[in-house]
Amino acid sequence: MEWDENLSVGVESMDSDHKELFKKIKELVYAINQHTCKYKIDDVIKFLEDYAKNHFAMEENFMKECGYPEYRQHKAEHRKFIATFSELKSELLKIKASGKYDGSYELSVTTDQVLVDWLLDHIAKVDRKLAKFLNDRVRKTNRLTSL
Ligand SMILES: [Fe+2]
Ligand SMILES: [Fe+2]
Repeated sequence: MEWDENLSVGVESMDSDHKELFKKIKELVYAINQHTCKYKIDDVIKFLEDYAKNHFAMEENFMKECGYPEYRQHKAEHRKFIATFSELKSELLKIKASGKYDGSYELSVTTDQVLVDWLLDHIAKVDRKLAKFLNDRVRKTNRLTSL
């Protein structure tokens, strides 16, 4: 699985975060294939927690600044991701509390599926739509040079 330019949305700060997420997915897949995911899943969940907080806040600020008409729908998808992420995290905590890491394989595979779906459903479609709006806006007003 390699970064596909079709996944680029065309706003640099968004793309660089998305690439970071992509890299993390690759690390997780590698660990699953190497049967070392029980050592990796902790790092992935921790990464996702910070990532979701910071990345979603950035996109939501862009939307607010520009008066993006689909702000509410887009933000609702972010919230949904955070809810799914919370389930993954509590599963990990359960596994850690039990001291039995047998469940970490299943959790790693589920996490991978969630992230790949997110890449294809949210980033490639919903984020792309936002990025297009932002770029059009920059062209029109030439004001959002900080993007
Ligand atoms: Fe995004
Ligand atoms: Fe988004």
